[in-house]
Amino acid sequence: MKIAVLKETAEGERRVAATPETVKKFIALGATLAVEAGAGSSASIADPDYEAAGATVGPREQVLGGAEAVLGVQGPDPATLGGIASGALLVAALNPFVYRERVDGYASAGVEALAMEFMPRITRAQSMDILSSQSNLSGYKAVLDAAAEYGRAFPMMMTAAGTIPAARIFIMGVGVAGLQAIATARRLGGIVSATDVRAATSEQIESLGAKAIFVENVKGIEGEGTGGYATEMSDEYKAAQAELVSSHIAKQDIVITTALIPGRPAPRLISDTQIASMRPGSVIVDLAVEQGGNVEGAVLGAVTERHGVRIVGHRNVPSRLAADASALYARNLYNFLSAFWDKEAGRVTLPDDDEIVKGVRLTRSGQIVNERLLAG
Ligand code: NAI
Repeated sequence: MKIAVLKETAEGERRVAATPETVKKFIALGATLAVEAGAGSSASIADPDYEAAGATVGPREQVLGGAEAVLGVQGPDPATLGGIASGALLVAALNPFVYRERVDGYASAGVEALAMEFMPRITRAQSMDILSSQSNLSGYKAVLDAAAEYGRAFPMMMTAAGTIPAARIFIMGVGVAGLQAIATARRLGGIVSATDVRAATSEQIESLGAKAIFVENVKGIEGEGTGGYATEMSDEYKAAQAELVSSHIAKQDIVITTALIPGRPAPRLISDTQIASMRPGSVIVDLAVEQGGNVEGAVLGAVTERHGVRIVGHRNVPSRLAADASALYARNLYNFLSAFWDKEAGRVTLPDDDEIVKGVRLTRSGQIVNERLLAG
């Protein structure tokens, strides 16, 4: 089976879908690997590193010629996939709700498109979960981005010239990114608090040494929520949450928001009035800015200022740690494809009745077959 690895073309995308480590592992399974020239350069992987791992490196047409699987980070334009084998697998984060017309393009090109962000949240698929591997790094980087914009220190420092108080950091949304943000902010010496709508996160927050701040008079989502995901909350809950946030946020130096609801715009958690209540020099990092933002006035791809508070809205945060993000992403892809490797056929075989396959498969034999996509 020939596996092609693309150089990403989306603006600002620095990650790559395979590393020398995963190239070696695919070759050990019996695959041949072709990597587009320069694919790894922005993730600190040079072409000779791929060659040393056993891949060929060349221009896109050569890499795609006869490929039976194509690996990418973001979904490529279907028009640029000329030369691949019919029925070839395309494995990437295809963002199918946003790039729906591309999915139609993959179907008509006869490509079997597999959207890695649709991986079901089951134990067997944990090592294939790109949302987890990338969100974890985003949560870490968000704290460093906040620290870089903050004109004060995080830890309490007792010096001969006097004492500097510890920074107060509030994390809103305690999924994978939020948990890592709590851990990172604690390591830097901040006083950390956090909130979520899922009741199960309260214990997780406390086990990381942070204070759980929860709406008490209105019920949130019991336990983990379906598949670990939140849903849109009632108006009553939203009002109670806004009140809670208003009183807490005015005492915070840093706020990091990570709240997402699958298939919907990000919930609005911080208003302009609440921003105005914060002390000048405070910093807010909105990790949900690409999904519409948790923070009023956050601008995608920019650091802005409102009422003396810096609002950070970086795009594609995992790409800001391109080497590690690529290493984990590439392993997610390898773990997925190798789990379905048919040794005798020397290729990947995806069984129709498998929960993972049903989750990620968008197109097959010219048709859109994914339930979530058909329903949405
Ligand atoms: P996510 O990225 O969809 O959302 C981030 C967080 O925002 C979630 O914790 C969510 O509850 C919270 N949120 C949504 N609306 C909110 C609001 N209005 N106010 C405050 N918070 C709000 O979630 P993520 O990080 O992808 O995962 C959530 C959970 O899924 C994990 O903590 C874990 O329990 C579970 N999970 C399970 C996996 C598996 O079994 N394979 C893999 C990864 C995660």
